[in-house]
Amino acid sequence: MAKITINPNDVVGTINPNIYGHFAEHLGRCIYDGVWVGEDSSIPNTGGIRNDVVAALRKMKPPVIRWPGGCFADDYHWQDGVGPRDQRPRRVNIHWGEVVESNAFGTQEFMRFCRMVGAQPYLVGNVGSGTVRELREWVEYCNFEGDSTLAQQRAADGSPKPLDITYWGVGNENWGCGGSFSPEDYGTEFRRFATFVRGFGKQLYVIACGPSGNDVEWTVRFFRKLRHDYWNFRNIHGFAAHYYCGTAGTATEYTVDQWYELIAKGLKMEDLVVQQRAAMDAYDPQRRIGLIVDEWGTWHPVEPGTHPRFLYQQNTLRDALVAATSLDIFNRHADKVVMANIAQTINVLQAMILTQEDKAIVTPTGYVYEMYAPHQGGASLRTVIASDTIAYTTGEKEQEVATIAGSASLKGKLLSLTLTNAHAIEAVDVTVQLLGGATARQGTARILTGEIHTHNTFDQPDSIQPVTIPITAEGPEFTIQLPPASVIAAEIYLA
Ligand code: AHR
Repeated sequence: MAKITINPNDVVGTINPNIYGHFAEHLGRCIYDGVWVGEDSSIPNTGGIRNDVVAALRKMKPPVIRWPGGCFADDYHWQDGVGPRDQRPRRVNIHWGEVVESNAFGTQEFMRFCRMVGAQPYLVGNVGSGTVRELREWVEYCNFEGDSTLAQQRAADGSPKPLDITYWGVGNENWGCGGSFSPEDYGTEFRRFATFVRGFGKQLYVIACGPSGNDVEWTVRFFRKLRHDYWNFRNIHGFAAHYYCGTAGTATEYTVDQWYELIAKGLKMEDLVVQQRAAMDAYDPQRRIGLIVDEWGTWHPVEPGTHPRFLYQQNTLRDALVAATSLDIFNRHADKVVMANIAQTINVLQAMILTQEDKAIVTPTGYVYEMYAPHQGGASLRTVIASDTIAYTTGEKEQEVATIAGSASLKGKLLSLTLTNAHAIEAVDVTVQLLGGATARQGTARILTGEIHTHNTFDQPDSIQPVTIPITAEGPEFTIQLPPASVIAAEIYLA
């Protein structure tokens, strides 16, 4: 038994749709094969972009996509990816297998992709090996409406109107692959770059590089550096942490204990959100600078036989539980998190979609995004969850993880309730109690469940997908049964 108490009058904050963002890097087969096949491909495409992938992504409703990296961003020179495609230079992708980057997919192609799936672009600028001028000119190329040389270049590339890009990252992982800076040195670089990232009449949203995982020291030292500068927090709107919960076993082979271990590692996201926001609050008590987690997810050993630097991994129901519990954390902390971008959209790490030649399959994680989409823009309701814990062992150590997690949001009279049951073999009855005089009128739900290793393959693409189930959601209190190893998304109409 477990109980979730929800008061529709107790609103934490609005769930920023950008919490459901994605990340797509020039890494392995994410962009090439995953998004871009080229106009001459026999794989059905629109202007070089795969139709099957676009159709699947549209159902997940990604509000924002971060590009071109990742580590790739700090070795990317945007001018390489504009102009006639057959004249673009071929470069070596130093981070990801030293494969040759054709630059066939550049700014214009990414914009088309974003428009096709209905997402906002989020571009990451090159701090590590780039110049302030380069980034300043990328913004001008994208956003300037007047008659400058760069605006003319954009028009010649097919976009006479500005691309109106709002989200700009100033480097990626600048403590590591983005230049190995100390927080103070990055603070100096950030200030220099951000000074020249101009809106050209449009309000930009400028994002600084945050810590590796929940490294509070990076955050404190970066903000202390900026506070002590005369510049004083101008032109910084977001601060982005990365958290990969890693693996336990492999992507598809794990014990029951490893099933729990990885779900527990994923749940550590909550400490990151609470502690990073608390560290930021000391310098930014009014929360003018948003906390972002612009890379997160599982990171398993690559699939046997695939390139070790392509980070191609399978994706099971366990990944779906990690995705669902992480999204529930972001929802519950809607007052703290303004954007999150799962890594990565296609064929890399915790992907939503896997492709093989002309085939594309949706992963259990992709289905979680479909199921959770109704939360986007909803009012996050404070939820109190009383749940048993499950004991498991890591090495010699006894550990515990909560059985039930979840979140709730409200749009008018429609209550979206998402719940997970982490128990590998036991079903759990969850009592939903509505406070503040609220009563449910009726409800429906979609559920994703199966044996704990279940995943889709190119031969069996529908081994796991959500199914609609009836629920009895009536009155101020009702019960939903969660099968073992399940994610449920309920839509409940309040009277
Ligand atoms: O997502 C893969 C890599 O992980 C990214 O390029 C980098 O930012 C992170 O270390």
